Amino acid sequence: MEQFQWKDQYKLGIEIIDTQHKRLVQIIAELGDLIPSSLNSTGYKNKAKEKKALQKILDELTQYAHFHFATEEKYFSEFHYKRAKEHEAQHENFRKTIDSFTNKLATRDGQLSMEISAFLENWFKHHLLGFDRDYVETFHKHGL
Ligand SMILES: [Fe+2]
Ligand SMILES: [Fe+2]
Repeated sequence: MEQFQWKDQYKLGIEIIDTQHKRLVQIIAELGDLIPSSLNSTGYKNKAKEKKALQKILDELTQYAHFHFATEEKYFSEFHYKRAKEHEAQHENFRKTIDSFTNKLATRDGQLSMEISAFLENWFKHHLLGFDRDYVETFHKHGL
């Protein structure tokens, strides 16, 4: 699978947000890096190690996504952004999905990384190019 990476088209032109999005892409790419070994038909050399690595990245992603969503949501309320509710529901959905992956991981091995990666890349592109792009005008108006 092609490595997920930052593209200029993801840029919103809001520095604080772009910096955070770049970091998110980086974490998602780290997770993607776990995949090649997972697809090895002979199985894992060390399943416990794979699982631990995946867990570590998922924890990091959870923490950073919370931080990032909180940043956006703080501005939504400060700037009275009109699609805040709808947007926050998307964030909430994401949190729930990541939590469910974390729970699944407890009972399954690191092969889950492919499923998680596919979800993340998809969600990120869709959210960033749609929902996040929508608030740019409002944020710009308020000097960001
Ligand atoms: Fe967002
Ligand atoms: Fe975002």
